[in-house]
Amino acid sequence: MQYVQHKGARVPALGFGTFPMRGAQCTRAVLWALEAGYRHIDTAQLYGNEADVGAALVQSGLSRADIFVTTKCGVYDASPEAVQAELVESLDRLQTDYVDLWMYHWPNRDTPLAETLAALADARTAGLVRQVGVGNFTIPLLHEAVEVHGADLFSNQFENHPLLRQPAVEAATVALGVTVTAHSPLGRGKVPGNHVLEGVGAKYGKSAAQVAIRWQLDKPDTMLVPKSTRREGIAENIDVFDFTLDDADRAAIEGLPNGQRGSDPPFAPDWDPIEEE
Ligand SMILES: NC(=O)c1ccc[n+]([C@@H]2O[C@H](COP(=O)([O-])OP(=O)(O)OC[C@H]3O[C@@H](n4cnc5c(N)ncnc54)[C@H](OP(=O)(O)O)[C@@H]3O)[C@@H](O)[C@H]2O)c1
Repeated sequence: MQYVQHKGARVPALGFGTFPMRGAQCTRAVLWALEAGYRHIDTAQLYGNEADVGAALVQSGLSRADIFVTTKCGVYDASPEAVQAELVESLDRLQTDYVDLWMYHWPNRDTPLAETLAALADARTAGLVRQVGVGNFTIPLLHEAVEVHGADLFSNQFENHPLLRQPAVEAATVALGVTVTAHSPLGRGKVPGNHVLEGVGAKYGKSAAQVAIRWQLDKPDTMLVPKSTRREGIAENIDVFDFTLDDADRAAIEGLPNGQRGSDPPFAPDWDPIEEE
């Protein structure tokens, strides 16, 4: 495993995403992931699977301290009262008394940003969460959070993969002292069948998915949370620590058509433009 060291935390750079799994399928997949060696699990109040993730955490028999757990809040109501109530529910469902990283899942225009950020900071002061972060924040929103409101953010989780490359968002995030968490790092399933990525992987006996994961892991202060429902997929996606990409591989990846966004709900912010590389 590779780790990101930031703000006193040491986090497995490769985590396991859990959306949209629910019920026994979700619990089983998280157990497989923990057996395979993942120690960073990504869930959210919105996913409706925190109890299923919590069951796996308990059933695994692993020490809680050895697993980095992220959950998220504030999609439909980001008022301090609402997110505080969500956190109480999240802790209960996850069967834990703290989460490692609590994220404001999507920027919500109905609540002043400072209010939600203050609620996140209060939860950290109270010891209910170790770190706080944001999800799907654009460059202007990140600047506002950090520079105007003084938020101490651990990570910005946004969609990032070989078919949606956002180097300017990555650079702005890291420059503000915030790590990147790439969500949908397999392009919600578009990456695995990509012929260019398959061609790169063929040199190393690796799959397109493994190439995409390795490419993210090579970036500074970057974590990612691929999801697979299948035991083989879960194992394949963590089998990425025995090869490296070269400049020609990176050039091939950076030549792929860009801008293929998979996550764009009606409440999404005004996205940063996809820039020329
Ligand atoms: N913050 C946010 O707003 C946000 C938004 C979206 C997602 N997320 C997080 O990011 C995580 C990952 O994103 P995602 O689930 O949207 O998509 P993803 O991880 O990019 O892709 C998942 C898809 O790829 C397939 N897959 C996985 N490994 C594979 C492999 N080795 N070979 C072939 N196919 C493979 C999966 O199918 P199988 O299951 O059949 O393997 C599934 O269809 C989510 O689970 C969630 O935790 C966060």
